[in-house]
Amino acid sequence: MPYCDEDIIEVIITQQQIAARIAQLAQQIAADYRDKHLVLIGVLTGSFVFLSDLMRQLDRPCEVDFLDASSYGNGTVSRGEVGITRDLKLSLTGKDVLVIEDIVDSGRTVSELVRLLQGHQPASVKVCTLLDKPARREMPVELSYIGFVIPGQFVVGYGLDYAQCFRNLPFVAVLDEDAVVPKPRTSE
Ligand code: IMP
Ligand code: MG
Repeated sequence: MPYCDEDIIEVIITQQQIAARIAQLAQQIAADYRDKHLVLIGVLTGSFVFLSDLMRQLDRPCEVDFLDASSYGNGTVSRGEVGITRDLKLSLTGKDVLVIEDIVDSGRTVSELVRLLQGHQPASVKVCTLLDKPARREMPVELSYIGFVIPGQFVVGYGLDYAQCFRNLPFVAVLDEDAVVPKPRTSE
C-alpha cells in the first residue's frame, strides 16, 4: 500500500487535542442524557475509534450498536448516494439515540441515517461528530455535538481513511491529494 506513506500527510489535530476535546464532549453528553436511555450508534467504519474513546469517557450507562453507511468508493469525492449495508441489532423504540460520526462533509450520510433511525420510534435522535466540514455542506443537518470544525480539505487518521489507509494514525491529518495520484513516468 504505497499511498499509506506518512510523508504525504500534515497533522492538523494532535492526539492530545483529540483526547482533551473528547473529555469535554463526554461530560456534556453525560449531563444531557442523565435521565435518558442512551444508545450510541456508530457509523462504520470511520467512527469506531472516536466512539470507543468517547464511550470510555462517558460517566453513565449506554448501549452501543453500529450501522454501515457507504457513500464513498476508494476516492476522495462523494458519489452522492448513501447505502445502508449493515442493520442494527438493538431495538431503538423509546430510547435516546446518539449517532456517532467521524466527519460530516456534504451531510448526505447523516441526514439519511437520521431519517432512517426516526422510523425505529426512538424517543430522540441526535448527532455527535468528531469533525465538521461545513464549507462542503449540501444537505442541512443539525449537529448537537461537534469535536472540531475543519476546512473543506480531505483528512485522514483517527479512524478516517483514504482507500482504507491511515485509519490507525492517532491524530487527524490533511492528505496531500496530489501526492497520492500516481504521476505518469517521464522518459529521459
Ligand atoms: P457526507 O455524506 O458527504 O457527509 O460524508 C460522510 C462520510 O464520508 C463520512 O462519514 C466519511 O466516512 C466520509 N468522508 C467525508 N469526508 C472525509 C474526509 O475528509 N476523509 C475521510 N473520509 C471522509
Ligand atoms: Mg463515515
